[in-house]
Amino acid sequence: MPTSAAVRSVLIPAAGLGTRMLPATKAIPKELLTLVDRPIIQYGVEEAVRAGIRRVVLVTNPGNTLTASHFAPAPALEAALNASGKADLLADVRKLTDLADVTTVHQPEPLGLGHAVLCGRDAVGNAPFAVLLPDDVIDAEPPALGRMLDVFAELDGPVLLVERVPHAAVDRYGIIAAEPIGDGVFRVTDLVEKPPVPDAPSDLAIIGRYVLTPDVFDILEATERGAGGEIQLTDGLRRLLQTRPIFACALHGTRLDAGNRSGFLRATIHFAARQPALAADLREALDSVTETATGG
Ligand code: G1P
Repeated sequence: MPTSAAVRSVLIPAAGLGTRMLPATKAIPKELLTLVDRPIIQYGVEEAVRAGIRRVVLVTNPGNTLTASHFAPAPALEAALNASGKADLLADVRKLTDLADVTTVHQPEPLGLGHAVLCGRDAVGNAPFAVLLPDDVIDAEPPALGRMLDVFAELDGPVLLVERVPHAAVDRYGIIAAEPIGDGVFRVTDLVEKPPVPDAPSDLAIIGRYVLTPDVFDILEATERGAGGEIQLTDGLRRLLQTRPIFACALHGTRLDAGNRSGFLRATIHFAARQPALAADLREALDSVTETATGG
């Protein structure tokens, strides 16, 4: 039986064009847009590390060197902080550098999530691994991925994170059909990527976290383009379901979709409100906006 410690790598696809956030993402990769005080991707890496996974396989487009450099040592910056006696800032920078072991692999063309996962095959190796989509920022204690690793260790099969979404929104997600088998845990009976609203088998949407087994790679190799003309991870998992059970775990916590304008704004407010040094200013700013908007 696998144990959660067997999952040592997290694959983070970060090769999207970020079209929903243009023009902000014209030069800056979307996962480097900042939520309060750190880029979106850092929230994901911190979640993985809290779940006990330190090895990050970053899948980027070939021109992107910025995302990995956020986690790499910065000798000139460290020397400058050291020389000016800014010990706290220096400690913060070093903590970030030591946070995780980041390996970068390239996705030559944006052919979809299934293809991005396949690009990480050699870096992940023949072992179970997690996939974390950085746009889905999750505030949960214990970390969502940690709970999924426990379910993986117990049930010995791939685990997806799911959340009930409004019925009208099912066409934006991978949707599962499932039967409950325990406290917030399901056995998946079918999966479909972005179904038309009337065809969706349920309102349970897959949200940006997966614990997968390496047999998914051979299946992704053979997966044809699906929704949106892309090689979809959901389609690969649907085929995997013919060979082994797949499980799902309901989110306990808050998911913020930082990949679109309104979600990004909500995520910014959510994390600012969590910082005692900012919460009062935030409230005052929001009140003054409300007063201005209502002419009060
Ligand atoms: C991807 C997956 C989809 C999942 C979603 C969660 O879609 O393909 O199954 O529900 O992430 O955020 P995307 O948002 O990249 O279109």
